[in-house]
Amino acid sequence: MTSHFEIADREAMNAGRRLLGKVAVVTGAAGGIGREIALTFIREGATVVVADLDRDRTAAAARDIDPSGERALGLTMDVTNEEQVEAGMSRVVEAFGSLDILVSNAGIQIVAPLVEFEFAKWKTMMDIHLDGAFLTTRAALRQMYRQKGGSIIYMGSVHSKEASPLKAPYVAAKHALIGLARSWRRKGPLMGSVPT
Ligand SMILES: NC(=O)c1ccc[n+]([C@@H]2O[C@H](COP(=O)([O-])OP(=O)(O)OC[C@H]3O[C@@H](n4cnc5c(N)ncnc54)[C@H](O)[C@@H]3O)[C@@H](O)[C@H]2O)c1
Repeated sequence: MTSHFEIADREAMNAGRRLLGKVAVVTGAAGGIGREIALTFIREGATVVVADLDRDRTAAAARDIDPSGERALGLTMDVTNEEQVEAGMSRVVEAFGSLDILVSNAGIQIVAPLVEFEFAKWKTMMDIHLDGAFLTTRAALRQMYRQKGGSIIYMGSVHSKEASPLKAPYVAAKHALIGLARSWRRKGPLMGSVPT
């Protein structure tokens, strides 16, 4: 049996190269939590695609996290836009040859009582959190099935499991991401039905 000390030793030995050779796309990575994830991945040896809305911000974040310019790429990609996601994810594979990790992190928060919540804002919330997760997942899964491996991570929240009266749409969206993950993580016929 492996002891806690052995596991800790192994972790320490691998620190700084746990993601060596992996290609990761992090959405909403020009700032906030996404940027920190991107930076951590760079420190662990990955090549990271910083995907976000604004070209200058993505380019600046990519430069910041990897001044060498060799392992970080800024990608202008609105996760709610099917064409941009398809083109962006294809570009990643063309540029780096694989896609090993997707972090679907892009998200927003709108705080208001449900009875006053504007429909347009509800739709924006669902667009970014759910359409964004769906579109990026679909594109990533196609490539991951082709290369027979990969990891997809959704940015959750305490609101993935708990409710909060002023954040009902956010709570609904974060809960829904659990359902989305449960659906594709089941192996079986789904794998075979994806064109290679
Ligand atoms: N901040 C928190 O306390 C907290 C807590 C739990 C979970 N989260 C989750 O973490 C994630 C990141 O939150 P954050 O606090 O870093 O937010 P943030 O506002 O600092 O960063 C979000 C990033 O997403 C980008 N973005 C927004 N819409 C986009 C779109 N359509 N396409 C591509 N990029 C888009 C923004 O430009 C921004 O750079 C979200 O999913 C959020 O729900 C945040």
